[in-house]
Amino acid sequence: MRYEAMTWKDFLAQRKTVLESWPTGREVDLEEAVRYQRGIAESKNFARAMSRAKAEKKTLTQPRAGVALIDDHIRLLRFLEIEGTADLLPTTIDAYTRQNRYQEAAVGIEKSIAAGHSLLNGFPAVNHGLSGCRRVTEAVTKPIQVRHGTPDARLLAEISLAGGFTSYEGGGISYNIPYTKKVELGDSIRAWRYVDRLVGYYEENGISINREPFGPLTGTLVPPFISHTVAVLEGLLALQEGVKSLTLGYGQGGNVLQDLAALATLRELAVEYFGRAGFEDYDLTIVFHQWMGGFPEDEAQAFAVISLGSFVAAAAGVEKIIVKTPHEAMGIPTKEANAAGLKATRQILSMLTDQRIFADNDILQREKDLIKREVRCLMDAVENASGGDPIQGIVRAFAGGLLDVPFAPSIFNRGRVLPVRDNEGFIRLFAKGNLPLTEEIMSFHRERLAERAKAEKRAVSFQMVTDDIYAISKSRLIGRPK
Ligand code: 5AD
Repeated sequence: MRYEAMTWKDFLAQRKTVLESWPTGREVDLEEAVRYQRGIAESKNFARAMSRAKAEKKTLTQPRAGVALIDDHIRLLRFLEIEGTADLLPTTIDAYTRQNRYQEAAVGIEKSIAAGHSLLNGFPAVNHGLSGCRRVTEAVTKPIQVRHGTPDARLLAEISLAGGFTSYEGGGISYNIPYTKKVELGDSIRAWRYVDRLVGYYEENGISINREPFGPLTGTLVPPFISHTVAVLEGLLALQEGVKSLTLGYGQGGNVLQDLAALATLRELAVEYFGRAGFEDYDLTIVFHQWMGGFPEDEAQAFAVISLGSFVAAAAGVEKIIVKTPHEAMGIPTKEANAAGLKATRQILSMLTDQRIFADNDILQREKDLIKREVRCLMDAVENASGGDPIQGIVRAFAGGLLDVPFAPSIFNRGRVLPVRDNEGFIRLFAKGNLPLTEEIMSFHRERLAERAKAEKRAVSFQMVTDDIYAISKSRLIGRPK
């Protein structure tokens, strides 16, 4: 596949419409934004923090957080950095802004003012505009990132990067397929091309902005090879536009060895595919997400899930962990619950910093080999479908089910893949849909599932899949019959 950045002419052709799509867009002046970013202390640059974590072999903690009003949002973030000892800060964007529904976000802001508390599920950064974003980013001492779920995040990127954020989450696949029903995949990928080009422009002007595709996808029994393929593809699309600081992610699956194999291979596969595409000048780091599926309601049990994830992050030596809270089953956490998740995570990470936990063993090696072989099958299929154009390759692969994300709402995803745990809790495939996996690989999956079927004295079925989806919230990993 050929990787070429979009031309500056094409970028500018879109830019006017993007900035005119809401009044605050007019505040953005790219030259002024670059000057503003130059003035941000190095200690607050997200890309620097990630590369330093890699050099120092540290795992940085980051929560999710966002409320409707600027002052409340600042208080929340200050609490998380001081009381929660977060290394990195987020700004989680509300659902209206994610869907470019700024008028409704404006109503949400008004209603939040009237109510005296947040009635939005995140921070409406576009409505608050450049000055609102700058108030937030100037009020904190840690690097701060925009976290969202937006298929067309062009205006949000323009405003928030000019507003002093130094990292931007998302991607054209990972913020479409798991998040929307009807947005054309090609449209979201092209919108994200603009975002990556904007970041590339900052890089060309000496401002390093970290980019993080969203690794966990639907967070529901996603086999590592599926999320890895998407991560590598989104990484390639970002590098193509001049992104330099790239963080690829993976969500905790629950089987410790599978998670360790996944985190090791994510780094190895990315380096391999980026090199093959001719990219050498980038700084790759890895983020691990604590369990993204259903959580136990009980707070003590939730802390246990958080702690197991923290253990895996430390054992794998990833640069960043995204932290859950004891309120996860209930919804948006209080600031205290959010800080509690951070502190539990930090305790585990600190106790494990000087330990080398897993020397390679046979099972880890088997799983790493398997993930690599699986990813190669999918990447080859994208290449073959591409006619040289990576975006075409991705769009066609999804249309044909050669790439297929389990439990995704998008109509541009075939949704024929069914994952299920094997008898040791490894996530395997019950139905492969149209995924281009070899017979050898599939026969391994079948063998492993036959073992579980035998142990549970029942056939592998959709019931088993459902049981697995709810197992962790009911204090188990594998959804065994009672
Ligand atoms: N503040 C804190 N956490 C949030 N999440 C979503 N929005 C917010 C917010 N405004 C969390 C959910 C879930 C994850 C996907 O993001 O609780 O853990």
